Amino acid sequence: MDEAPIRRHPCTMSHSLISPRVRATGAPPIPAARVWAARYDGRAGPAIDLTQAVPGYPPDPAMLEHLAAAAGTRAAAGYGDIAGDDGLRAALAADLNGFYGASVTADQVSITAGCNLAFAMAATVAAAPGEAVMLPTPWYFNHHMALTMHGIETLPLPCRAEDGFVPDPALAEALLTPAVRAIVLVSPNNPTGAIYPPEVIAAFATLCRRRGLWLILDETYRDFLPADRTPPHTLFSDPDWADVLVHLYSFSKSYCIPGHRVGAIAAGGEFRAEMLKVLDTMQICPPRAAQTALTWAIEGLRDWRAGNRTLMAGRADAFRAAAGRLNGWKLDAIGAYFAYLRLPDWAADSPATAERLASECGLASLPGAFFGPGQDRHLRLAFANVDAETIARVPERLNLL
Ligand SMILES: Cc1ncc(COP(=O)(O)O)c(C=O)c1O
Repeated sequence: MDEAPIRRHPCTMSHSLISPRVRATGAPPIPAARVWAARYDGRAGPAIDLTQAVPGYPPDPAMLEHLAAAAGTRAAAGYGDIAGDDGLRAALAADLNGFYGASVTADQVSITAGCNLAFAMAATVAAAPGEAVMLPTPWYFNHHMALTMHGIETLPLPCRAEDGFVPDPALAEALLTPAVRAIVLVSPNNPTGAIYPPEVIAAFATLCRRRGLWLILDETYRDFLPADRTPPHTLFSDPDWADVLVHLYSFSKSYCIPGHRVGAIAAGGEFRAEMLKVLDTMQICPPRAAQTALTWAIEGLRDWRAGNRTLMAGRADAFRAAAGRLNGWKLDAIGAYFAYLRLPDWAADSPATAERLASECGLASLPGAFFGPGQDRHLRLAFANVDAETIARVPERLNLL
């Protein structure tokens, strides 16, 4: 009788059964930083958590009522359309048109299960494994993680503090390789808060058009732009915008509902037609109840959204004022949700400094090293999470180093 084949546990095998692409992807940064914060014993006062980009105020009560009512319906329990419900697509198209002075149609809008998934899906449409996508540095870590796990190379585009971390289209062109299929811009930026001038965004669109690339523009924080910086660009006014632009948006921050996972992609033509395959495979449909509530909220909470823009501008002002009391630290950039601080010369590199601040000084932040190459002398502080009074206490914690 033949012996039964021995089934070995993966741990005993010489090669890993995990995809090398996933193994090459960085670990989730926020939990890593929270491990440091968990060791804090309260010696400097109550802990301040500036790690995650979440609005530090609750959703509007009417939003919660709409969510609750929608979640209790039979319709919300069923699958919906691959690219989202008609009502929300039409409402977002109207919102985009009002904000950008554009004429985006509802069938150019796709609703997604969050903007992170929107990016991963858009990147998959734009680039194949082995091809490349250009990301300005510092980059949003989940963008780099998504590219790595899909086997898409990241080509860094270094941005300088002296330029306010605004990327340079001429440098981008000089660094392009034949493998690049898309350039990604995030404005207002995560992690620097930098708001890219309209002419810079336009120059990137021109570059992408000339070189046959997609411009993936993530405007997750557009509802927090100062009123005098809107509209942030005029790309949608080009009747052929859909030949070059793939626009990403998140409902998470603007409506304070990150847990409901809703984002959007504005894209047209061949890109959108092909993307439907990816949407179907990766999400089947976006969450239904939140779509129903958001269809109401886009108009129903317009004033509330405007109020939060003012509130966030107030928090940024409070942070700027507090930064005047810093010893050795430099506020290199600030905007929308984030401040990007340069470490004092005497401080250890960003992970060690962030760990010490979190575990000994009760101030949790993210080290620049999480945001790509060349960021080791910076920290990201998501001031959006806390009120102005708490922001005023940040310098005393940083000065404890
Ligand atoms: C630039 C950027 N894009 C996307 C996201 C994720 O948004 P969502 O919650 O819709 O997935 C974030 C969240 O921090 C972000 O900063």
